[in-house]
Amino acid sequence: MLKPRESIAGMSPYLSPIVSRAGLSLDLNESMAGCSPRVLERLRSLSAEDISLYPKREVGERLVANFLGVLPEQVLLTDGMDEALSLLFATYLGENDELLFAEPTFVMYPMLGEALGAQLVRVRSGEDLALPTADLLSRISPRTRVIAVANPNNPTGLAASRADLLKIVESAPGAAVLIDEAYFEFCGETLLADLTRHPNLFVGRTFSKAYGLAGLRLGVLTGAAEQIDYIRRHSAPFNVNSVVLTCLEEALADQAFVRNHVAQVKQGRERLAQAFTELGLRFWPSRTNFVLVRVGTTAKAFVDSMQRRGILVRDSSASPGCEGCVRMTVGTPEQMDGVLKAIREAIAETR
Ligand SMILES: Cc1ncc(COP(=O)(O)O)c(C=O)c1O
Repeated sequence: MLKPRESIAGMSPYLSPIVSRAGLSLDLNESMAGCSPRVLERLRSLSAEDISLYPKREVGERLVANFLGVLPEQVLLTDGMDEALSLLFATYLGENDELLFAEPTFVMYPMLGEALGAQLVRVRSGEDLALPTADLLSRISPRTRVIAVANPNNPTGLAASRADLLKIVESAPGAAVLIDEAYFEFCGETLLADLTRHPNLFVGRTFSKAYGLAGLRLGVLTGAAEQIDYIRRHSAPFNVNSVVLTCLEEALADQAFVRNHVAQVKQGRERLAQAFTELGLRFWPSRTNFVLVRVGTTAKAFVDSMQRRGILVRDSSASPGCEGCVRMTVGTPEQMDGVLKAIREAIAETR
Protein backbone atom coordinates (compact mmCIF):
# COMPACT_ATOMS: atom_id res chain seq x y z
CA MET A 1 0.00 0.00 0.00
CA LEU A 2 1.17 3.50 -0.82
CA LYS A 3 2.26 5.35 2.29
CA PRO A 4 3.35 8.97 2.71
CA ARG A 5 6.45 9.88 4.68
CA GLU A 6 5.95 9.25 8.39
CA SER A 7 6.06 12.94 9.28
CA ILE A 8 3.17 13.67 6.89
CA ALA A 9 1.08 10.70 8.02
CA GLY A 10 1.40 11.93 11.61
CA MET A 11 -0.03 15.37 10.82
CA SER A 12 -3.59 16.48 11.63
CA PRO A 13 -6.02 16.49 8.70
CA TYR A 14 -6.17 19.70 6.64
CA LEU A 15 -8.78 22.26 7.70
CA SER A 16 -9.44 25.37 5.60
CA PRO A 17 -8.82 28.56 7.60
CA ILE A 18 -11.90 30.01 5.88
CA VAL A 19 -14.82 29.01 8.12
CA SER A 20 -17.39 31.12 6.28
CA ARG A 21 -17.65 34.17 4.05
CA ALA A 22 -21.20 34.98 5.10
CA GLY A 23 -20.63 38.31 6.81
CA LEU A 24 -17.78 40.72 7.44
CA SER A 25 -14.57 38.64 7.60
CA LEU A 26 -12.62 39.95 10.56
CA ASP A 27 -11.16 36.51 11.24
CA LEU A 28 -8.25 36.25 8.78
CA ASN A 29 -6.26 39.51 9.17
CA GLU A 30 -7.06 40.55 5.61
CA SER A 31 -7.34 44.14 4.39
CA MET A 32 -10.86 45.44 4.87
CA ALA A 33 -10.03 48.41 2.63
CA GLY A 34 -9.56 46.28 -0.48
CA CYS A 35 -6.56 47.21 -2.60
CA SER A 36 -5.24 50.23 -4.48
CA PRO A 37 -7.54 51.40 -7.32
CA ARG A 38 -4.39 51.62 -9.44
CA VAL A 39 -3.92 47.86 -9.01
CA LEU A 40 -7.53 47.26 -10.06
CA GLU A 41 -7.05 49.44 -13.12
CA ARG A 42 -3.93 47.50 -14.09
CA LEU A 43 -5.84 44.25 -13.62
CA ARG A 44 -8.58 45.43 -15.96
CA SER A 45 -6.03 46.20 -18.64
CA LEU A 46 -4.48 42.70 -18.67
CA SER A 47 -3.92 41.33 -22.15
CA ALA A 48 -4.26 37.74 -23.31
CA GLU A 49 -0.50 37.62 -23.54
CA ASP A 50 -0.13 38.68 -19.92
CA ILE A 51 -1.99 35.48 -19.07
CA SER A 52 -0.81 33.03 -21.70
CA LEU A 53 2.93 33.44 -21.21
CA TYR A 54 4.92 32.15 -18.26
CA PRO A 55 5.63 34.87 -15.69
CA LYS A 56 8.99 36.59 -15.31
CA ARG A 57 9.66 36.68 -11.58
CA GLU A 58 13.03 38.39 -12.01
CA VAL A 59 11.40 41.62 -13.20
CA GLY A 60 9.36 41.75 -10.01
CA GLU A 61 12.40 40.94 -7.90
CA ARG A 62 14.23 43.94 -9.31
CA LEU A 63 11.25 46.17 -8.51
CA VAL A 64 10.98 44.91 -4.94
CA ALA A 65 14.76 45.04 -4.37
CA ASN A 66 14.79 48.64 -5.54
CA PHE A 67 11.85 49.48 -3.28
CA LEU A 68 13.44 47.84 -0.23
CA GLY A 69 16.94 49.16 -0.93
CA VAL A 70 18.59 45.74 -1.25
CA LEU A 71 20.15 43.89 -4.18
CA PRO A 72 17.96 41.79 -6.51
CA GLU A 73 20.17 38.81 -5.54
CA GLN A 74 18.89 39.25 -2.00
CA VAL A 75 15.23 38.92 -2.98
CA LEU A 76 13.10 35.88 -3.72
CA LEU A 77 9.46 36.46 -4.62
CA THR A 78 7.10 33.71 -3.56
CA ASP A 79 3.50 32.56 -3.77
CA GLY A 80 2.56 34.42 -0.60
CA MET A 81 4.81 34.40 2.43
CA ASP A 82 3.56 30.91 3.21
CA GLU A 83 5.65 29.62 0.30
CA ALA A 84 8.67 31.64 1.47
CA LEU A 85 8.40 29.87 4.84
CA SER A 86 8.12 26.53 3.13
CA LEU A 87 11.19 27.09 0.93
CA LEU A 88 13.27 28.54 3.76
CA PHE A 89 12.45 25.69 6.14
CA ALA A 90 13.12 23.04 3.48
CA THR A 91 16.51 24.59 2.73
CA TYR A 92 17.87 24.35 6.27
CA LEU A 93 15.72 21.92 8.26
CA GLY A 94 16.28 18.21 7.89
CA GLU A 95 14.69 15.35 9.79
CA ASN A 96 15.41 15.67 13.53
CA ASP A 97 16.96 19.12 13.16
CA GLU A 98 15.49 21.65 15.55
CA LEU A 99 13.01 24.36 14.65
CA LEU A 100 12.89 26.87 17.48
CA PHE A 101 9.98 29.26 18.02
CA ALA A 102 8.01 30.95 20.79
CA GLU A 103 4.32 30.32 21.35
CA PRO A 104 1.77 31.62 20.67
CA THR A 105 2.74 32.41 17.09
CA PHE A 106 1.79 31.86 13.46
CA VAL A 107 0.48 28.31 13.07
CA MET A 108 2.36 27.66 9.84
CA TYR A 109 5.73 27.41 11.63
CA PRO A 110 4.98 24.20 13.56
CA MET A 111 2.97 22.85 10.67
CA LEU A 112 5.81 23.18 8.15
CA GLY A 113 8.40 21.99 10.66
CA GLU A 114 6.33 18.92 11.44
CA ALA A 115 5.92 18.13 7.74
CA LEU A 116 9.71 18.09 7.36
CA GLY A 117 10.11 15.75 10.32
CA ALA A 118 11.97 18.39 12.33
CA GLN A 119 12.03 18.52 16.13
CA LEU A 120 9.76 21.34 17.25
CA VAL A 121 11.29 23.26 20.14
CA ARG A 122 8.48 25.37 21.56
CA VAL A 123 9.11 28.10 24.12
CA ARG A 124 6.04 29.38 25.93
CA SER A 125 5.51 33.12 26.33
CA GLY A 126 4.61 34.36 29.79
CA GLU A 127 1.28 35.80 30.82
CA ASP A 128 2.05 39.05 28.95
CA LEU A 129 2.41 36.99 25.73
CA ALA A 130 5.59 38.97 24.88
CA LEU A 131 8.48 37.29 23.08
CA PRO A 132 10.33 35.28 25.78
CA THR A 133 13.77 36.27 24.51
CA ALA A 134 15.83 34.89 27.42
CA ASP A 135 14.07 31.51 27.23
CA LEU A 136 14.48 31.38 23.46
CA LEU A 137 18.21 32.12 23.79
CA SER A 138 18.58 29.37 26.38
CA ARG A 139 17.07 26.80 23.99
CA ILE A 140 19.48 27.43 21.11
CA SER A 141 21.53 24.28 20.55
CA PRO A 142 23.98 23.00 17.92
CA ARG A 143 20.95 21.25 16.34
CA THR A 144 18.96 24.48 15.97
CA ARG A 145 18.70 25.05 12.22
CA VAL A 146 15.80 27.50 11.94
CA ILE A 147 14.41 30.08 14.38
CA ALA A 148 11.15 31.71 13.33
CA VAL A 149 9.85 34.91 14.91
CA ALA A 150 6.82 36.80 13.66
CA ASN A 151 7.41 40.46 14.42
CA PRO A 152 4.89 41.84 15.12
CA ASN A 153 3.44 38.53 16.20
CA ASN A 154 0.23 36.80 15.16
CA PRO A 155 -2.07 36.28 17.12
CA THR A 156 -0.86 38.72 19.82
CA GLY A 157 -0.15 41.80 17.69
CA LEU A 158 2.90 42.50 19.89
CA ALA A 159 6.33 43.55 18.61
CA ALA A 160 9.67 42.69 20.18
CA SER A 161 12.58 45.14 20.32
CA ARG A 162 15.21 45.20 17.59
CA ALA A 163 17.87 44.65 20.28
CA ASP A 164 16.19 41.41 21.44
CA LEU A 165 15.78 40.15 17.89
CA LEU A 166 19.43 40.87 17.08
CA LYS A 167 20.50 39.01 20.22
CA ILE A 168 18.74 35.93 18.85
CA VAL A 169 20.30 36.37 15.40
CA GLU A 170 23.78 36.79 16.89
CA SER A 171 23.42 33.87 19.30
CA ALA A 172 22.62 31.37 16.56
CA PRO A 173 25.09 31.91 13.68
CA GLY A 174 24.54 28.34 12.51
CA ALA A 175 20.76 28.73 12.24
CA ALA A 176 18.58 30.55 9.73
CA VAL A 177 16.75 33.22 11.72
CA LEU A 178 13.56 34.39 10.05
CA ILE A 179 11.99 37.63 11.16
CA ASP A 180 8.52 37.41 9.63
CA GLU A 181 7.44 40.99 9.05
CA ALA A 182 4.02 40.24 7.54
CA TYR A 183 2.55 43.19 9.47
CA PHE A 184 5.54 45.54 9.03
CA GLU A 185 3.56 48.44 7.56
CA PHE A 186 1.30 48.67 10.65
CA CYS A 187 4.30 48.70 12.98
CA GLY A 188 7.11 50.46 11.12
CA GLU A 189 10.02 48.57 12.70
CA THR A 190 12.24 46.33 10.60
CA LEU A 191 15.49 44.39 10.62
CA LEU A 192 16.01 44.93 6.90
CA ALA A 193 19.02 47.23 7.48
CA ASP A 194 20.67 44.49 9.57
CA LEU A 195 20.84 42.01 6.68
CA THR A 196 24.25 43.25 5.56
CA ARG A 197 25.86 42.39 8.91
CA HIS A 198 24.12 39.07 9.56
CA PRO A 199 24.44 36.32 6.94
CA ASN A 200 22.02 34.05 8.89
CA LEU A 201 19.23 36.66 9.04
CA PHE A 202 16.16 36.57 6.78
CA VAL A 203 13.35 39.10 6.64
CA GLY A 204 9.97 38.14 5.18
CA ARG A 205 7.27 40.47 3.87
CA THR A 206 3.90 40.02 2.23
CA PHE A 207 1.53 41.94 -0.01
CA SER A 208 -1.44 40.20 1.67
CA LYS A 209 -1.96 42.68 4.50
CA ALA A 210 -1.33 46.43 4.08
CA TYR A 211 -1.38 46.18 0.26
CA GLY A 212 -4.64 44.20 0.27
CA LEU A 213 -3.47 41.58 -2.25
CA ALA A 214 -4.04 38.36 -0.26
CA GLY A 215 -5.97 36.80 -3.14
CA LEU A 216 -3.20 37.49 -5.67
CA ARG A 217 -0.54 35.86 -3.43
CA LEU A 218 2.83 37.58 -3.24
CA GLY A 219 5.46 37.11 -0.57
CA VAL A 220 9.02 38.40 -0.30
CA LEU A 221 12.00 36.69 1.25
CA THR A 222 15.18 38.70 1.72
CA GLY A 223 18.51 37.64 3.14
CA ALA A 224 22.18 37.40 2.30
CA ALA A 225 22.62 36.88 -1.46
CA GLU A 226 24.56 33.66 -0.90
CA GLN A 227 21.74 32.14 1.18
CA ILE A 228 18.93 33.37 -1.07
CA ASP A 229 20.80 31.68 -3.92
CA TYR A 230 20.46 28.29 -2.15
CA ILE A 231 16.75 28.84 -1.55
CA ARG A 232 16.18 29.93 -5.16
CA ARG A 233 17.74 26.68 -6.43
CA HIS A 234 14.75 24.62 -5.35
CA SER A 235 12.02 27.18 -6.00
CA ALA A 236 9.75 26.54 -8.97
CA PRO A 237 10.70 29.13 -11.62
CA PHE A 238 7.07 30.12 -12.24
CA ASN A 239 5.87 30.13 -8.62
CA VAL A 240 4.64 33.73 -8.77
CA ASN A 241 1.76 34.31 -11.18
CA SER A 242 1.89 36.83 -14.00
CA VAL A 243 -1.24 38.65 -12.79
CA VAL A 244 0.33 39.77 -9.53
CA LEU A 245 3.64 40.52 -11.24
CA THR A 246 1.82 42.77 -13.70
CA CYS A 247 0.18 44.63 -10.81
CA LEU A 248 3.29 44.92 -8.67
CA GLU A 249 4.57 48.20 -10.08
CA GLU A 250 1.25 49.94 -9.39
CA ALA A 251 0.97 48.40 -5.93
CA LEU A 252 4.42 49.71 -4.97
CA ALA A 253 3.86 53.08 -6.62
CA ASP A 254 0.62 53.75 -4.74
CA GLN A 255 2.16 54.31 -1.32
CA ALA A 256 -0.58 56.87 -0.65
CA PHE A 257 -3.07 53.98 -0.55
CA VAL A 258 -0.90 52.03 1.91
CA ARG A 259 -0.31 55.08 4.12
CA ASN A 260 -4.00 55.94 4.23
CA HIS A 261 -5.02 52.35 4.98
CA VAL A 262 -2.41 52.02 7.73
CA ALA A 263 -3.56 55.31 9.31
CA GLN A 264 -7.16 54.08 9.32
CA VAL A 265 -6.16 50.75 10.86
CA LYS A 266 -4.24 52.56 13.61
CA GLN A 267 -7.33 54.63 14.39
CA GLY A 268 -9.55 51.56 14.30
CA ARG A 269 -7.35 49.58 16.69
CA GLU A 270 -7.43 52.55 19.09
CA ARG A 271 -11.22 52.50 18.98
CA LEU A 272 -11.18 48.78 19.73
CA ALA A 273 -8.72 49.33 22.58
CA GLN A 274 -10.96 51.99 24.06
CA ALA A 275 -14.07 49.82 23.81
CA PHE A 276 -12.26 46.87 25.44
CA THR A 277 -11.04 49.13 28.24
CA GLU A 278 -14.59 50.38 28.84
CA LEU A 279 -15.87 46.82 28.86
CA GLY A 280 -13.17 45.79 31.33
CA LEU A 281 -11.63 43.28 28.92
CA ARG A 282 -7.92 42.47 28.80
CA PHE A 283 -6.42 43.13 25.37
CA TRP A 284 -2.91 43.29 23.96
CA PRO A 285 -1.76 46.62 22.46
CA SER A 286 -1.49 45.81 18.79
CA ARG A 287 1.12 46.84 16.21
CA THR A 288 -0.79 44.99 13.46
CA ASN A 289 -4.16 45.15 11.66
CA PHE A 290 -5.89 43.02 14.33
CA VAL A 291 -6.38 43.00 18.09
CA LEU A 292 -6.35 40.09 20.54
CA VAL A 293 -8.79 40.38 23.44
CA ARG A 294 -9.58 38.05 26.34
CA VAL A 295 -13.32 37.48 26.53
CA GLY A 296 -13.03 34.56 28.95
CA THR A 297 -14.88 31.25 29.14
CA THR A 298 -17.64 32.68 26.95
CA ALA A 299 -15.26 33.22 24.00
CA LYS A 300 -17.01 30.66 21.80
CA ALA A 301 -20.46 32.04 22.63
CA PHE A 302 -19.14 35.55 21.89
CA VAL A 303 -17.80 34.46 18.47
CA ASP A 304 -21.18 32.83 17.68
CA SER A 305 -23.04 35.93 18.83
CA MET A 306 -20.84 38.13 16.61
CA GLN A 307 -21.49 35.77 13.70
CA ARG A 308 -25.25 36.12 14.19
CA ARG A 309 -24.63 39.87 13.89
CA GLY A 310 -22.86 39.30 10.57
CA ILE A 311 -19.29 39.62 11.83
CA LEU A 312 -16.76 36.79 11.75
CA VAL A 313 -14.02 36.90 14.39
CA ARG A 314 -11.49 34.23 15.38
CA ASP A 315 -11.65 32.22 18.58
CA SER A 316 -7.94 31.97 19.46
CA SER A 317 -8.49 29.81 22.54
CA ALA A 318 -6.52 26.95 21.00
CA SER A 319 -3.33 29.04 20.79
CA PRO A 320 -1.03 28.45 23.77
CA GLY A 321 -1.57 31.14 26.42
CA CYS A 322 -4.63 32.51 24.60
CA GLU A 323 -7.36 30.59 26.39
CA GLY A 324 -10.60 32.58 26.19
CA CYS A 325 -9.12 34.99 23.65
CA VAL A 326 -10.61 36.27 20.42
CA ARG A 327 -8.67 37.87 17.56
CA MET A 328 -10.37 40.40 15.34
CA THR A 329 -9.20 42.31 12.29
CA VAL A 330 -9.64 46.08 12.31
CA GLY A 331 -12.33 47.18 9.85
CA THR A 332 -12.66 50.39 7.85
CA PRO A 333 -13.92 53.49 9.74
CA GLU A 334 -17.41 52.86 8.33
CA GLN A 335 -17.37 49.19 9.36
CA MET A 336 -16.03 49.98 12.83
CA ASP A 337 -19.24 51.71 13.96
CA GLY A 338 -21.18 48.49 13.40
CA VAL A 339 -18.35 46.32 14.75
CA LEU A 340 -18.16 48.24 18.05
CA LYS A 341 -21.94 48.11 18.43
CA ALA A 342 -21.92 44.36 17.77
CA ILE A 343 -19.10 43.82 20.30
CA ARG A 344 -21.03 45.61 23.04
CA GLU A 345 -24.21 43.67 22.23
CA ALA A 346 -22.42 40.31 22.02
CA ILE A 347 -20.62 40.90 25.33
CA ALA A 348 -23.91 41.90 27.01
CA GLU A 349 -25.61 38.81 25.58
CA THR A 350 -22.94 36.30 26.58
CA ARG A 351 -21.63 37.69 29.91
C1 LIG B 1 2.86 36.15 10.71
C2 LIG B 1 2.36 35.75 9.36
N1 LIG B 1 3.25 35.33 8.44
C3 LIG B 1 2.86 34.96 7.22
C4 LIG B 1 1.53 35.00 6.84
C5 LIG B 1 1.15 34.48 5.48
O1 LIG B 1 1.04 35.51 4.57
P1 LIG B 1 0.75 35.24 3.03
O2 LIG B 1 -0.68 35.60 2.79
O3 LIG B 1 1.70 36.14 2.32
O4 LIG B 1 1.03 33.79 2.74
C6 LIG B 1 0.56 35.42 7.76
C7 LIG B 1 -0.86 35.43 7.39
O5 LIG B 1 -1.75 35.63 8.15
C8 LIG B 1 0.99 35.81 9.06
O6 LIG B 1 0.12 36.18 9.98
